[in-house]
Amino acid sequence: MTMHSNAAPSPAAPILEVSHLGVAYGNDARKVQVVHDVSLAVSPGEALGIVGESGCGKSQTMLAVLRLLPRGGRVSGGAVRFDGRDVLALSARDVRGIRGHGLALISQDALTALNPAMTIGTQMAEPLIHYDGVSGAQARKRCAELLDLVGIPGATSRLGSYPHELSGGMRQRALIAMAISANPKVLIADEPTTALDVTTQAQILQLIDRLRRDLGMALILITHDLGVVAGVTDRVAVMYAGRVVETATTEDLFASPRHPYTKALLDSTARIEGQVSDRLSPIPGLPPDPRSPVSGCAFHPRCSYVRDVCHQDLPQLVDGIAGGEHPVRCFVDPFVTAPARRAGEAAR
Ligand SMILES: Nc1ncnc2c1ncn2[C@@H]1O[C@H](COP(=O)(O)OP(=O)(O)OP(=O)(O)O)[C@@H](O)[C@H]1O
Ligand SMILES: [Mg+2]
Repeated sequence: MTMHSNAAPSPAAPILEVSHLGVAYGNDARKVQVVHDVSLAVSPGEALGIVGESGCGKSQTMLAVLRLLPRGGRVSGGAVRFDGRDVLALSARDVRGIRGHGLALISQDALTALNPAMTIGTQMAEPLIHYDGVSGAQARKRCAELLDLVGIPGATSRLGSYPHELSGGMRQRALIAMAISANPKVLIADEPTTALDVTTQAQILQLIDRLRRDLGMALILITHDLGVVAGVTDRVAVMYAGRVVETATTEDLFASPRHPYTKALLDSTARIEGQVSDRLSPIPGLPPDPRSPVSGCAFHPRCSYVRDVCHQDLPQLVDGIAGGEHPVRCFVDPFVTAPARRAGEAAR
């Protein structure tokens, strides 16, 4: 085997790969497209953030991946591959096999994700007994270990608690314990900290980060808050109006954001390094409603860099001159246009 000693290690093949995924509601006469042409990939052990304002299609994308779209919603195009398998073509039974063991979801709202009429212990043990053929006593022991692992004090006695008897932070921990109980390869955390106070938020994020590293899982962390992905993810995909508008390593995204939407999100994000002197500037306006789509670039009505072309044409997701993998979907990408402008000024 010939191999250069200084060759960069080739990146691992993705465990989950979403290609050109579309999600739509309604029939052809009244079709509402909520996710357009989304491509994402995550490799084993890697952490990917998906960031965007409310309604940008983050949850719909992941529900499609998990084959959990609600009634009326359907995949309108594209492909999902998990561990070499075509997820969209799997039987309902095989999908259930992948959920939990392969792809596990920590959803936005722990209170609705947990069954209020069942104790934590019973609902945690059920899939272990049912799918893994573990005995009742073994399942109970495993559940106590899992609750302990996610930092719930007095784990054994907590097995008998009902969801409403736990605090919001503890419920979220219990949900995480359930999600990791089947050793998933990819953990999908959809706004796992939204309903929690700042301190508990930070603790839950640390917990997810630690578990991901300890258990070697890939992580997809969905949030509207760029501050949340900062210390936790390797790469970030920014979504706007159902489309990915920029993807980069987390470091590059913070150091040199390219899409005006990403810049605006950064400007509206609380600085976490303690530079509190910065005033936060919220993005004016709202994302479009997919029932009345915006022509051209969907961000153009809110964009301070807007040009004529942005009103009519949809920009493609392309890599600019920056090199590396940092594609952006924008006609006025400053990385591309700034050197050109400077060259033009110099010529004049
Ligand atoms: N059952 C449904 N029927 C029709 N449209 C839907 C349905 N569920 C969601 N949508 C629409 O799909 C779009 C994307 O929603 P999605 O839940 O993916 O947003 P999100 O990015 O996860 O937002 P949030 O941060 O608020 O969770 C929204 O415009 C929403 O109105
Ligand atoms: Mg959501």
